[in-house]
Amino acid sequence: MNVLLFGATGMIGQGVLRECLLDPGVDSVLAVGRTPPSGPHPKLRVLVHQDFLDFSTVADDMTGVDACFFCLGVSSAGMTEPDYRRVSYDIPLAAAHVLAARNPGMTFIFVSGAGADSTGQGRLMWARVKGQAENALLALPFRASYVFRPAFVQPMHGVRSRTALYRAVYAAAAPLYPVWRALLPRYVTTTEQVGRAMIAVARRGAPTRVLENADINAVPVAGPTLASRSGV
Ligand SMILES: NC(=O)c1ccc[n+]([C@@H]2O[C@H](COP(=O)([O-])OP(=O)(O)OC[C@H]3O[C@@H](n4cnc5c(N)ncnc54)[C@H](OP(=O)(O)O)[C@@H]3O)[C@@H](O)[C@H]2O)c1
Repeated sequence: MNVLLFGATGMIGQGVLRECLLDPGVDSVLAVGRTPPSGPHPKLRVLVHQDFLDFSTVADDMTGVDACFFCLGVSSAGMTEPDYRRVSYDIPLAAAHVLAARNPGMTFIFVSGAGADSTGQGRLMWARVKGQAENALLALPFRASYVFRPAFVQPMHGVRSRTALYRAVYAAAAPLYPVWRALLPRYVTTTEQVGRAMIAVARRGAPTRVLENADINAVPVAGPTLASRSGV
């Protein structure tokens, strides 16, 4: 499987990249970003690109793709709706249109978030925009497309968020992960599980096109399942 990954420098994207590089069934990963992810790997190619609203100049590079894992995104905190919409709607749609035209047989998986509003009309700005992006992406002519809606994502294996606020929250919350996982298993996942679930869904599909946090945790993956691990 040839994977194209957006957001490989971010918290979720770093986790997804790690799982892709470890998975023997993933032949290659093309990471598209404005900055390269750290560390070379024989399976990893990097495409540094600056205009994320126009991929026409790199469309040839975005060909021959079996699965795209779209992990690029931002927190809406302090952002105006037009700015948030540019990153959370315009960028994924710009990428997806090029990919769908070039790779009609591929699977596209979009990282959204728990609470995204499928009506696209609610009062919560981020949820409305994410819901609109989900709907527009799911309507494109991919062989298959899915939305992942993680809730609280525990970073594993040294993965770090790009967002300073999130880093502080994760550092403060780290000692409580086992408690939260025990009390709220439906609302907590890990970067490892998200990455492995993406690969599994790209290979075998999923019963629903929108996977909530509990659905992500329930995806059968290679290695020990999230539920079977006592600590992470
Ligand atoms: N973290 C969580 O617990 C969590 C939970 C639910 C949903 N999510 C969603 O998952 C997605 C990723 O979250 P994250 O925590 O991994 O974020 P993150 O650590 O802040 O990483 C964001 C990624 O997006 C890229 N990016 C952001 N703005 C960009 C732009 N204008 N142009 C090009 N690249 C841009 C960043 O690239 P650079 O390195 O170039 O900045 C980075 O690779 C977001 O949509 C978020 O809402 C996250």
